[in-house]
Amino acid sequence: MRIIKNTLQMQKIALGHIKNSDEIGLVPTMGALHEGHISLIAKSKKRDDITIVSIFVNPTQFGPNEDYLKYPRNTKKDLEICRESHVDYVFMPLVGDMFPANHKTFVEVEILQDILCGKFRSNHFRGVVTVIVKLFNISYADRSYFGMKDFQQLKIIEKMVKDLNFRTKIIPCPIVREESGLAISSRNSYLSIEEKKTSENISRILKEASEDFKIKDLNFVKEIVLSKLKKIPESKIDYAEVVDFNDLSLADESTRKVVFAIAVWIGQTRLIDNTIMIKQTK
Ligand code: PAF
Repeated sequence: MRIIKNTLQMQKIALGHIKNSDEIGLVPTMGALHEGHISLIAKSKKRDDITIVSIFVNPTQFGPNEDYLKYPRNTKKDLEICRESHVDYVFMPLVGDMFPANHKTFVEVEILQDILCGKFRSNHFRGVVTVIVKLFNISYADRSYFGMKDFQQLKIIEKMVKDLNFRTKIIPCPIVREESGLAISSRNSYLSIEEKKTSENISRILKEASEDFKIKDLNFVKEIVLSKLKKIPESKIDYAEVVDFNDLSLADESTRKVVFAIAVWIGQTRLIDNTIMIKQTK
């Protein structure tokens, strides 16, 4: 496993592999690697000749009052995980190399970036998409792997790839959950033991919603979810929305495949989760 810290060097190495007809898989991460990331790496290891994991806590996707400085960083453990997962390259650029002071170009996916999480985190997706465009150009990735926990992020990146004719294929990967149902996330490390227990309600509520959706009206299911979320101690709801699986537009009774997406604060920690629900045809 090689650790590459320089953008130009990473680009040269990747181009060498492309010339060699190797297929490259990229797993973009912000580090603090967990089972979710490990599952993405395993998927790339199965399919691609070369697996690159990028570790970069991207400052451009954090708002001024968000957790950029306290975001969990554990390079030693991350590298151990990458080594055990037989990653070929870990790309760990410095902020000044990715975003030098004179960086002026940003990529935005209109409309999709302004709904759901985008309503509460202005400029977040602009930062995500810009860093992903850079990582795709640096890594020459044939495929890139994204977890479905960040469903809006996944849809926005898919749209950017389609609109800008990128050759990288986006591979959506299922949410990895703890036994309790809690969706695994680097930010779970902020939770106290008590808060973690409380957070487990989120996935339970979503699971119950999928069952209800089979027999009840969409708006009724939404109301039940909202009332259950409100009862979680120390919680504050950013949103609980049902959107079309394909384009994130607001779902109605006629939408067959929907995503119930939730963002909830438990104490000082903002958690997101979602579930895909398909209307049974009668
Ligand atoms: O999901 C993440 O960890 C980040 O948003 C990503 C995709 C690595 C971009 O910084």
